[in-house]
Amino acid sequence: MASEVVAKRSKLESVGGECKCHGKLPDDRFNKLRDVIDEYKDKSGSLIPVLHEAQQLFGCLPEDVQEFVAKGLGVPESEVYGVATFYSLFSLKPKGKWTISVCLGTACYVKGAANCLEALKKELGTDIGGTSEDGLFTLEGVRCVGACALAPVVVIGDTVYAKVKPEDIKRILAEHVEAHSTEAHAS
Ligand code: FES
Repeated sequence: MASEVVAKRSKLESVGGECKCHGKLPDDRFNKLRDVIDEYKDKSGSLIPVLHEAQQLFGCLPEDVQEFVAKGLGVPESEVYGVATFYSLFSLKPKGKWTISVCLGTACYVKGAANCLEALKKELGTDIGGTSEDGLFTLEGVRCVGACALAPVVVIGDTVYAKVKPEDIKRILAEHVEAHSTEAHAS
């Protein structure tokens, strides 16, 4: 009888379209992470490789994953957080399909990178470090990418857009989505 009630509740909730699991659905990725932790547990310098594997599994390092790693390795959560936020290869939030980087080096800045950045923020509806609501783009500011003669520069994946003007931003985003829409993973 109890299981019937649960089944009805779950059906009602799914019909309502509102998730009631609060992100606590059984997640096999934690079992896999447990195996990784067990493998590295007694080795020195294990935190970075374990976090790397965790990010491969989860796509980022949210709080519950950091907590799981800290407990598993027997290190303070503050240490895990410190490492996860220190290295740029780690991310606490899910990244978009593509990372779009605006060069904020001196040459680009002088040529108007700040205006391009504002146009990008407006178009993507997010600030630096954030991801557009459609999950496509994560916006980043970077230092000189070594293409100062082409300033201001915007980079998406392997593609460098040169001498970008704020009014080009909408077109650049649309063209990139159009050209890469069949790709499965971030570039
Ligand atoms: S400052 Fe932007 S490429 Fe050098």
